[in-house]
Amino acid sequence: MANIDFSKRDSFGSKFGVIAATAGSAVGLGNIWRFPYVAGESGGGAFVLIYLGFILLIGVPVMLSEFIIGRRGQQNAFGSFKKLAPGKPWYLVGLMGIIAAFLILAFYSTIAGWTLEYIMQSITNSFNGKNSAELKQSFEIFQSGTFRPILWQLIFMGLTAWIVFSGIKDGIEKSTKILMPLLFVLIIILCIRAVTLPGAIEGLEFLFKPDFSKITWGVVLEALGQAAFSLSIGMGALITYGSYIGKDNNLSTTAIQVSLADTAIALLAGVMIFPAVFSFGLKPDEGFGLVFIVLPNIFEQMAGGYFFSIIFFILLAVAALTSTISVLEVVVAYFVEELKMSRKKATIIGSVSISAIGVFCTLSFGGLSNFKIFNKTVFGIFDYLSANILLPIGAFLIVIFLGWFLGKKVIVDELSNNGTLKNRLLGLFIFIIKFIAPVAIAMVFLYSTGIIKL
Ligand code: TRP
Repeated sequence: MANIDFSKRDSFGSKFGVIAATAGSAVGLGNIWRFPYVAGESGGGAFVLIYLGFILLIGVPVMLSEFIIGRRGQQNAFGSFKKLAPGKPWYLVGLMGIIAAFLILAFYSTIAGWTLEYIMQSITNSFNGKNSAELKQSFEIFQSGTFRPILWQLIFMGLTAWIVFSGIKDGIEKSTKILMPLLFVLIIILCIRAVTLPGAIEGLEFLFKPDFSKITWGVVLEALGQAAFSLSIGMGALITYGSYIGKDNNLSTTAIQVSLADTAIALLAGVMIFPAVFSFGLKPDEGFGLVFIVLPNIFEQMAGGYFFSIIFFILLAVAALTSTISVLEVVVAYFVEELKMSRKKATIIGSVSISAIGVFCTLSFGGLSNFKIFNKTVFGIFDYLSANILLPIGAFLIVIFLGWFLGKKVIVDELSNNGTLKNRLLGLFIFIIKFIAPVAIAMVFLYSTGIIKL
Protein backbone atom coordinates (compact mmCIF):
# COMPACT_ATOMS: atom_id res chain seq x y z
CA MET A 1 0.00 0.00 0.00
CA ALA A 2 1.29 3.44 -0.82
CA ASN A 3 1.84 5.78 2.08
CA ILE A 4 1.57 9.10 0.38
CA ASP A 5 -1.51 10.38 2.11
CA PHE A 6 -0.12 11.79 5.30
CA SER A 7 2.49 14.26 4.19
CA LYS A 8 4.47 15.47 1.26
CA ARG A 9 7.66 13.95 2.60
CA ASP A 10 9.33 11.06 0.88
CA SER A 11 8.30 7.74 2.40
CA PHE A 12 8.79 4.01 2.21
CA GLY A 13 6.53 2.45 -0.37
CA SER A 14 5.56 -0.81 1.29
CA LYS A 15 5.57 -2.76 4.49
CA PHE A 16 8.41 -4.90 3.28
CA GLY A 17 10.24 -1.77 2.24
CA VAL A 18 10.13 -0.54 5.84
CA ILE A 19 11.53 -3.78 7.18
CA ALA A 20 14.14 -4.06 4.45
CA ALA A 21 15.37 -0.52 4.97
CA THR A 22 15.43 -0.73 8.77
CA ALA A 23 17.04 -4.16 8.73
CA GLY A 24 19.44 -2.78 6.15
CA SER A 25 20.39 -0.05 8.60
CA ALA A 26 20.75 -2.47 11.50
CA VAL A 27 22.57 -5.28 9.74
CA GLY A 28 26.01 -4.20 8.72
CA LEU A 29 29.61 -4.14 9.83
CA GLY A 30 28.28 -3.89 13.37
CA ASN A 31 27.20 -7.51 13.16
CA ILE A 32 29.94 -9.01 11.07
CA TRP A 33 32.98 -6.93 11.92
CA ARG A 34 32.25 -5.27 15.29
CA PHE A 35 30.38 -8.00 17.15
CA PRO A 36 33.14 -10.62 16.72
CA TYR A 37 35.97 -8.24 17.53
CA VAL A 38 34.29 -6.86 20.66
CA ALA A 39 33.11 -10.31 21.80
CA GLY A 40 36.64 -11.60 21.23
CA GLU A 41 38.19 -8.84 23.30
CA SER A 42 35.54 -9.10 26.01
CA GLY A 43 36.02 -12.77 26.77
CA GLY A 44 33.27 -14.43 24.69
CA GLY A 45 30.27 -16.27 26.18
CA ALA A 46 29.48 -14.12 29.19
CA PHE A 47 29.67 -10.99 27.06
CA VAL A 48 27.35 -12.55 24.50
CA LEU A 49 24.80 -13.41 27.16
CA ILE A 50 24.76 -9.88 28.53
CA TYR A 51 24.56 -8.50 25.00
CA LEU A 52 21.47 -10.63 24.34
CA GLY A 53 19.92 -9.41 27.57
CA PHE A 54 20.45 -5.81 26.50
CA ILE A 55 18.96 -6.42 23.05
CA LEU A 56 15.78 -7.67 24.67
CA LEU A 57 15.56 -5.29 27.60
CA ILE A 58 16.84 -2.10 26.04
CA GLY A 59 17.37 -2.59 22.31
CA VAL A 60 13.87 -3.53 21.18
CA PRO A 61 12.11 -0.98 23.43
CA VAL A 62 14.42 1.83 22.32
CA MET A 63 13.98 0.91 18.66
CA LEU A 64 10.23 1.02 19.11
CA SER A 65 10.50 4.33 20.96
CA GLU A 66 12.47 5.85 18.09
CA PHE A 67 9.87 4.67 15.57
CA ILE A 68 7.11 6.23 17.66
CA ILE A 69 8.91 9.55 18.03
CA GLY A 70 9.77 9.69 14.33
CA ARG A 71 6.38 8.73 12.99
CA ARG A 72 4.69 11.09 15.41
CA GLY A 73 7.07 13.95 14.69
CA GLN A 74 7.23 13.51 10.90
CA GLN A 75 10.61 15.21 10.90
CA ASN A 76 14.33 14.50 11.06
CA ALA A 77 15.82 13.53 14.43
CA PHE A 78 16.31 17.13 15.50
CA GLY A 79 13.03 18.44 14.09
CA SER A 80 10.93 15.66 15.58
CA PHE A 81 12.01 16.61 19.09
CA LYS A 82 11.48 20.27 18.36
CA LYS A 83 8.00 19.66 17.02
CA LEU A 84 6.90 17.29 19.79
CA ALA A 85 8.37 19.43 22.57
CA PRO A 86 8.15 23.02 21.38
CA GLY A 87 10.20 25.47 23.36
CA LYS A 88 11.90 22.73 25.37
CA PRO A 89 15.54 21.68 25.10
CA TRP A 90 14.77 18.13 23.95
CA TYR A 91 16.00 18.97 20.46
CA LEU A 92 19.49 18.75 21.97
CA VAL A 93 19.03 14.96 21.91
CA GLY A 94 18.57 15.23 18.17
CA LEU A 95 21.61 17.44 17.90
CA MET A 96 23.68 14.93 19.83
CA GLY A 97 22.51 12.28 17.39
CA ILE A 98 23.72 14.35 14.48
CA ILE A 99 27.14 14.68 16.11
CA ALA A 100 27.14 10.92 16.73
CA ALA A 101 26.34 10.39 13.05
CA PHE A 102 29.48 12.30 12.08
CA LEU A 103 31.66 10.23 14.42
CA ILE A 104 30.14 6.90 13.43
CA LEU A 105 30.34 7.45 9.72
CA ALA A 106 33.91 8.75 9.99
CA PHE A 107 35.25 5.48 11.42
CA TYR A 108 32.70 3.15 9.85
CA SER A 109 33.75 4.25 6.38
CA THR A 110 37.31 3.14 7.15
CA ILE A 111 36.17 -0.43 7.67
CA ALA A 112 33.68 -0.20 4.81
CA GLY A 113 36.63 0.77 2.63
CA TRP A 114 38.44 -2.38 3.76
CA THR A 115 35.55 -4.46 2.42
CA LEU A 116 36.13 -2.94 -1.03
CA GLU A 117 39.84 -3.82 -0.84
CA TYR A 118 38.85 -7.36 0.06
CA ILE A 119 36.52 -7.59 -2.93
CA MET A 120 39.53 -6.69 -5.07
CA GLN A 121 41.80 -9.13 -3.29
CA SER A 122 39.20 -11.86 -3.76
CA ILE A 123 38.88 -11.17 -7.47
CA THR A 124 42.63 -11.16 -7.97
CA ASN A 125 42.83 -14.40 -6.01
CA SER A 126 45.41 -12.98 -3.66
CA PHE A 127 44.54 -15.16 -0.67
CA ASN A 128 45.50 -18.18 -2.72
CA GLY A 129 48.19 -20.39 -1.21
CA LYS A 130 48.78 -18.17 1.80
CA ASN A 131 48.88 -19.62 5.29
CA SER A 132 47.35 -18.04 8.34
CA ALA A 133 50.43 -16.00 9.24
CA GLU A 134 50.82 -14.72 5.69
CA LEU A 135 47.16 -13.71 5.47
CA LYS A 136 47.54 -11.78 8.70
CA GLN A 137 50.66 -10.10 7.42
CA SER A 138 49.12 -9.03 4.14
CA PHE A 139 46.14 -7.57 6.00
CA GLU A 140 48.49 -5.58 8.21
CA ILE A 141 50.44 -4.27 5.26
CA PHE A 142 47.28 -3.06 3.57
CA GLN A 143 45.77 -1.63 6.74
CA SER A 144 48.84 0.41 7.64
CA GLY A 145 49.10 1.92 4.17
CA THR A 146 48.01 5.41 3.24
CA PHE A 147 46.85 5.70 -0.33
CA ARG A 148 44.80 2.52 -0.80
CA PRO A 149 42.75 2.53 2.39
CA ILE A 150 41.96 6.22 1.99
CA LEU A 151 41.00 5.79 -1.64
CA TRP A 152 38.62 2.92 -0.77
CA GLN A 153 37.13 4.93 2.07
CA LEU A 154 36.45 7.87 -0.23
CA ILE A 155 34.96 5.62 -2.90
CA PHE A 156 32.67 4.15 -0.27
CA MET A 157 31.60 7.56 0.97
CA GLY A 158 30.91 8.53 -2.63
CA LEU A 159 28.65 5.52 -3.08
CA THR A 160 26.82 6.34 0.13
CA ALA A 161 26.31 9.95 -0.92
CA TRP A 162 25.07 8.89 -4.32
CA ILE A 163 22.37 6.62 -2.88
CA VAL A 164 21.31 9.12 -0.25
CA PHE A 165 21.08 11.80 -2.89
CA SER A 166 18.83 9.73 -5.11
CA GLY A 167 16.13 9.69 -2.41
CA ILE A 168 14.46 7.32 -0.01
CA LYS A 169 12.28 5.06 -2.03
CA ASP A 170 14.46 4.56 -5.05
CA GLY A 171 17.78 4.41 -3.34
CA ILE A 172 17.40 2.76 0.01
CA GLU A 173 14.49 0.46 -0.46
CA LYS A 174 15.36 -1.20 -3.72
CA SER A 175 18.93 -2.00 -2.82
CA THR A 176 18.12 -3.88 0.38
CA LYS A 177 15.27 -6.15 -0.64
CA ILE A 178 17.20 -8.79 -2.50
CA LEU A 179 20.67 -8.57 -1.11
CA MET A 180 20.06 -8.99 2.62
CA PRO A 181 18.46 -12.45 2.31
CA LEU A 182 21.34 -13.46 0.06
CA LEU A 183 23.86 -12.38 2.67
CA PHE A 184 22.02 -14.47 5.23
CA VAL A 185 22.31 -17.59 3.06
CA LEU A 186 25.99 -17.04 2.44
CA ILE A 187 26.73 -16.61 6.14
CA ILE A 188 25.00 -19.91 6.86
CA ILE A 189 27.19 -21.63 4.27
CA LEU A 190 30.29 -20.14 5.89
CA CYS A 191 29.07 -21.22 9.33
CA ILE A 192 28.80 -24.78 8.11
CA ARG A 193 32.37 -24.66 6.81
CA ALA A 194 33.58 -23.09 10.05
CA VAL A 195 32.03 -25.57 12.46
CA THR A 196 33.36 -28.54 10.49
CA LEU A 197 36.95 -27.30 10.75
CA PRO A 198 39.24 -29.29 13.06
CA GLY A 199 39.11 -27.89 16.58
CA ALA A 200 35.94 -25.90 15.88
CA ILE A 201 34.42 -26.84 19.21
CA GLU A 202 36.84 -24.62 21.08
CA GLY A 203 35.47 -21.61 19.22
CA LEU A 204 31.86 -22.53 19.92
CA GLU A 205 32.69 -22.89 23.59
CA PHE A 206 34.38 -19.52 23.58
CA LEU A 207 31.28 -17.94 22.08
CA PHE A 208 28.55 -19.71 24.01
CA LYS A 209 29.99 -20.96 27.29
CA PRO A 210 29.82 -18.07 29.70
CA ASP A 211 32.83 -17.53 31.92
CA PHE A 212 31.61 -14.94 34.37
CA SER A 213 35.06 -14.31 35.75
CA LYS A 214 35.60 -12.28 32.57
CA ILE A 215 32.88 -9.81 33.47
CA THR A 216 33.75 -6.33 34.60
CA TRP A 217 31.64 -3.16 34.41
CA GLY A 218 33.73 -2.26 31.40
CA VAL A 219 32.61 -5.43 29.63
CA VAL A 220 29.00 -4.74 30.55
CA LEU A 221 29.30 -1.30 28.97
CA GLU A 222 30.82 -2.86 25.85
CA ALA A 223 27.81 -5.18 25.63
CA LEU A 224 25.41 -2.27 25.97
CA GLY A 225 27.30 -0.23 23.38
CA GLN A 226 27.41 -3.16 20.97
CA ALA A 227 23.68 -3.83 21.37
CA ALA A 228 22.91 -0.17 20.64
CA PHE A 229 25.34 0.08 17.75
CA SER A 230 24.13 -3.10 16.12
CA LEU A 231 20.47 -2.09 16.26
CA SER A 232 21.25 1.45 15.03
CA ILE A 233 19.58 2.97 18.08
CA GLY A 234 20.42 5.94 20.25
CA MET A 235 21.20 8.61 17.66
CA GLY A 236 18.01 9.18 15.76
CA ALA A 237 18.63 7.07 12.66
CA LEU A 238 15.45 5.19 13.46
CA ILE A 239 13.63 8.40 14.36
CA THR A 240 14.47 9.59 10.87
CA TYR A 241 13.38 6.28 9.35
CA GLY A 242 10.32 6.24 11.61
CA SER A 243 9.25 9.51 10.02
CA TYR A 244 9.16 7.72 6.65
CA ILE A 245 7.07 4.80 7.95
CA GLY A 246 3.41 4.75 6.92
CA LYS A 247 0.57 5.20 9.39
CA ASP A 248 -0.65 1.66 8.76
CA ASN A 249 2.60 -0.05 9.75
CA ASN A 250 2.58 -2.15 12.91
CA LEU A 251 5.58 -0.61 14.64
CA SER A 252 5.97 -3.25 17.35
CA THR A 253 6.08 -6.07 14.82
CA THR A 254 8.61 -4.19 12.74
CA ALA A 255 10.85 -3.53 15.76
CA ILE A 256 10.73 -7.18 16.86
CA GLN A 257 11.38 -8.58 13.39
CA VAL A 258 14.27 -6.25 12.70
CA SER A 259 15.88 -6.92 16.09
CA LEU A 260 15.54 -10.67 15.63
CA ALA A 261 17.11 -10.58 12.19
CA ASP A 262 19.93 -8.35 13.40
CA THR A 263 20.71 -10.49 16.42
CA ALA A 264 20.56 -13.70 14.41
CA ILE A 265 23.11 -12.34 11.96
CA ALA A 266 25.45 -11.21 14.74
CA LEU A 267 25.33 -14.64 16.39
CA LEU A 268 25.84 -16.39 13.06
CA ALA A 269 28.81 -14.13 12.38
CA GLY A 270 30.21 -15.35 15.69
CA VAL A 271 29.65 -18.96 14.67
CA MET A 272 31.39 -18.24 11.39
CA ILE A 273 34.40 -16.54 12.99
CA PHE A 274 35.34 -18.12 16.34
CA PRO A 275 35.64 -21.79 15.36
CA ALA A 276 37.95 -20.63 12.58
CA VAL A 277 39.92 -18.38 14.95
CA PHE A 278 40.85 -21.35 17.11
CA SER A 279 41.22 -23.78 14.24
CA PHE A 280 43.77 -21.54 12.51
CA GLY A 281 45.67 -20.79 15.68
CA LEU A 282 44.69 -17.12 15.80
CA LYS A 283 43.65 -15.21 18.91
CA PRO A 284 40.08 -14.05 19.62
CA ASP A 285 41.31 -10.70 20.92
CA GLU A 286 42.98 -9.83 17.64
CA GLY A 287 41.06 -6.53 17.61
CA PHE A 288 39.77 -4.40 14.74
CA GLY A 289 41.23 -6.67 12.06
CA LEU A 290 39.75 -9.93 13.33
CA VAL A 291 37.26 -10.81 10.58
CA PHE A 292 39.52 -9.59 7.81
CA ILE A 293 42.23 -11.95 8.98
CA VAL A 294 39.97 -14.92 9.73
CA LEU A 295 37.64 -14.94 6.72
CA PRO A 296 40.31 -15.43 4.02
CA ASN A 297 41.51 -18.43 6.02
CA ILE A 298 38.04 -19.95 5.79
CA PHE A 299 37.82 -19.29 2.05
CA GLU A 300 41.20 -20.93 1.59
CA GLN A 301 39.80 -24.05 3.23
CA MET A 302 36.61 -24.43 1.24
CA ALA A 303 35.59 -25.78 -2.12
CA GLY A 304 34.66 -22.86 -4.35
CA GLY A 305 36.34 -20.49 -1.90
CA TYR A 306 37.36 -18.18 -4.73
CA PHE A 307 33.76 -17.52 -5.77
CA PHE A 308 32.38 -17.49 -2.25
CA SER A 309 34.92 -14.90 -1.17
CA ILE A 310 34.01 -12.55 -4.02
CA ILE A 311 30.29 -12.83 -3.34
CA PHE A 312 30.74 -12.58 0.41
CA PHE A 313 32.78 -9.40 0.37
CA ILE A 314 30.42 -7.82 -2.16
CA LEU A 315 27.47 -8.58 0.10
CA LEU A 316 29.37 -7.34 3.12
CA ALA A 317 30.05 -4.09 1.33
CA VAL A 318 26.37 -3.82 0.44
CA ALA A 319 25.35 -4.53 4.04
CA ALA A 320 27.73 -1.77 5.11
CA LEU A 321 26.27 0.53 2.47
CA THR A 322 22.69 0.07 3.64
CA SER A 323 23.95 1.05 7.10
CA THR A 324 26.03 4.04 6.02
CA ILE A 325 23.12 5.47 4.06
CA SER A 326 21.00 5.43 7.22
CA VAL A 327 23.70 7.33 9.09
CA LEU A 328 24.23 9.90 6.35
CA GLU A 329 20.46 10.24 5.99
CA VAL A 330 20.29 11.52 9.59
CA VAL A 331 22.66 14.35 8.69
CA VAL A 332 21.10 15.09 5.31
CA ALA A 333 17.51 15.13 6.61
CA TYR A 334 18.65 17.58 9.29
CA PHE A 335 20.45 19.84 6.80
CA VAL A 336 17.49 19.80 4.41
CA GLU A 337 14.69 20.33 6.90
CA GLU A 338 16.35 22.53 9.51
CA LEU A 339 19.00 24.41 7.59
CA LYS A 340 16.87 24.59 4.44
CA MET A 341 19.52 23.23 2.08
CA SER A 342 18.73 21.44 -1.15
CA ARG A 343 19.10 17.68 -0.89
CA LYS A 344 22.04 17.82 -3.23
CA LYS A 345 23.90 20.48 -1.28
CA ALA A 346 23.14 18.74 2.02
CA THR A 347 24.47 15.44 0.72
CA ILE A 348 27.65 16.98 -0.62
CA ILE A 349 28.40 19.05 2.49
CA GLY A 350 27.59 16.12 4.80
CA SER A 351 29.61 13.51 2.99
CA VAL A 352 32.61 15.71 2.25
CA SER A 353 32.97 16.91 5.83
CA ILE A 354 32.55 13.40 7.23
CA SER A 355 35.11 12.07 4.76
CA ALA A 356 37.57 14.73 5.86
CA ILE A 357 37.31 13.53 9.46
CA GLY A 358 37.21 9.91 8.33
CA VAL A 359 40.66 10.13 6.75
CA PHE A 360 42.14 10.57 10.23
CA CYS A 361 40.42 7.37 11.34
CA THR A 362 41.91 5.49 8.41
CA LEU A 363 45.34 6.96 9.07
CA SER A 364 45.20 5.84 12.67
CA PHE A 365 46.15 2.37 11.40
CA GLY A 366 49.12 3.79 9.56
CA GLY A 367 50.83 7.16 9.78
CA LEU A 368 48.91 8.23 12.88
CA SER A 369 49.10 4.92 14.74
CA ASN A 370 51.28 6.40 17.45
CA PHE A 371 48.99 9.34 18.03
CA LYS A 372 47.02 8.28 21.08
CA ILE A 373 44.62 9.88 23.51
CA PHE A 374 43.63 7.85 26.59
CA ASN A 375 45.68 5.05 25.08
CA LYS A 376 43.40 4.91 22.02
CA THR A 377 43.98 5.91 18.42
CA VAL A 378 41.66 8.37 16.66
CA PHE A 379 39.76 5.41 15.26
CA GLY A 380 39.57 3.76 18.67
CA ILE A 381 38.25 6.90 20.31
CA PHE A 382 35.58 7.48 17.67
CA ASP A 383 34.46 3.87 17.94
CA TYR A 384 34.40 3.85 21.75
CA LEU A 385 32.93 7.31 22.19
CA SER A 386 30.06 6.80 19.76
CA ALA A 387 29.04 3.24 20.62
CA ASN A 388 29.72 3.17 24.34
CA ILE A 389 29.03 6.74 25.37
CA LEU A 390 26.86 8.69 22.92
CA LEU A 391 24.48 5.87 21.94
CA PRO A 392 23.69 4.80 25.53
CA ILE A 393 23.15 8.44 26.55
CA GLY A 394 20.95 8.93 23.47
CA ALA A 395 18.98 5.77 24.21
CA PHE A 396 18.51 6.87 27.82
CA LEU A 397 17.15 10.28 26.83
CA ILE A 398 14.92 8.81 24.12
CA VAL A 399 13.09 6.47 26.50
CA ILE A 400 12.81 9.20 29.12
CA PHE A 401 11.37 11.53 26.50
CA LEU A 402 8.78 9.04 25.35
CA GLY A 403 7.94 7.52 28.72
CA TRP A 404 7.88 10.62 30.88
CA PHE A 405 7.34 13.50 28.49
CA LEU A 406 5.20 12.40 25.54
CA GLY A 407 3.37 9.91 27.71
CA LYS A 408 0.84 7.18 27.45
CA LYS A 409 -1.68 8.60 25.02
CA VAL A 410 0.86 9.12 22.25
CA ILE A 411 2.28 5.66 22.86
CA VAL A 412 -1.16 4.03 22.72
CA ASP A 413 -2.09 5.97 19.56
CA GLU A 414 1.10 5.05 17.75
CA LEU A 415 1.28 1.41 18.83
CA SER A 416 -2.37 0.73 18.05
CA ASN A 417 -2.41 2.88 14.90
CA ASN A 418 -5.16 4.98 16.47
CA GLY A 419 -7.07 2.07 17.90
CA THR A 420 -7.00 -0.34 14.98
CA LEU A 421 -4.42 -2.75 16.42
CA LYS A 422 -4.40 -4.68 19.69
CA ASN A 423 -1.28 -4.33 21.82
CA ARG A 424 -1.02 -6.97 24.47
CA LEU A 425 2.43 -5.93 25.64
CA LEU A 426 1.59 -2.25 26.00
CA GLY A 427 1.81 -2.23 29.80
CA LEU A 428 5.13 -4.05 29.74
CA PHE A 429 6.53 -1.69 27.11
CA ILE A 430 5.59 1.40 29.09
CA PHE A 431 7.03 -0.08 32.29
CA ILE A 432 10.31 -0.87 30.52
CA ILE A 433 10.77 2.54 28.95
CA LYS A 434 9.76 4.45 32.07
CA PHE A 435 11.73 2.46 34.61
CA ILE A 436 13.77 -0.56 33.59
CA ALA A 437 15.65 0.73 30.55
CA PRO A 438 16.63 4.13 31.97
CA VAL A 439 17.71 2.67 35.31
CA ALA A 440 19.70 -0.11 33.62
CA ILE A 441 21.45 2.26 31.24
CA ALA A 442 22.23 4.75 34.01
CA MET A 443 23.63 2.02 36.26
CA VAL A 444 25.87 0.51 33.61
CA PHE A 445 27.06 3.92 32.70
CA LEU A 446 27.79 5.18 36.20
CA TYR A 447 29.49 1.98 37.37
CA SER A 448 31.59 1.41 34.28
CA THR A 449 32.86 4.96 34.13
CA GLY A 450 33.70 4.75 37.83
CA ILE A 451 31.41 7.64 38.73
CA ILE A 452 29.84 5.27 41.26
CA LYS A 453 31.89 2.51 42.87
CA LEU A 454 30.47 -0.81 44.05
N1 TRP B 1 23.77 -0.81 12.94
C1 TRP B 1 24.74 -0.66 11.90
C2 TRP B 1 25.64 -1.87 11.89
O1 TRP B 1 25.45 -2.74 12.68
C3 TRP B 1 25.51 0.62 12.01
C4 TRP B 1 24.60 1.78 12.08
C5 TRP B 1 23.80 2.25 11.12
C6 TRP B 1 24.33 2.56 13.21
N2 TRP B 1 23.06 3.29 11.57
C7 TRP B 1 23.37 3.49 12.84
C8 TRP B 1 24.81 2.52 14.48
C9 TRP B 1 22.87 4.38 13.77
C10 TRP B 1 24.33 3.43 15.42
C11 TRP B 1 23.36 4.33 15.06
O2 TRP B 1 26.53 -1.96 11.13
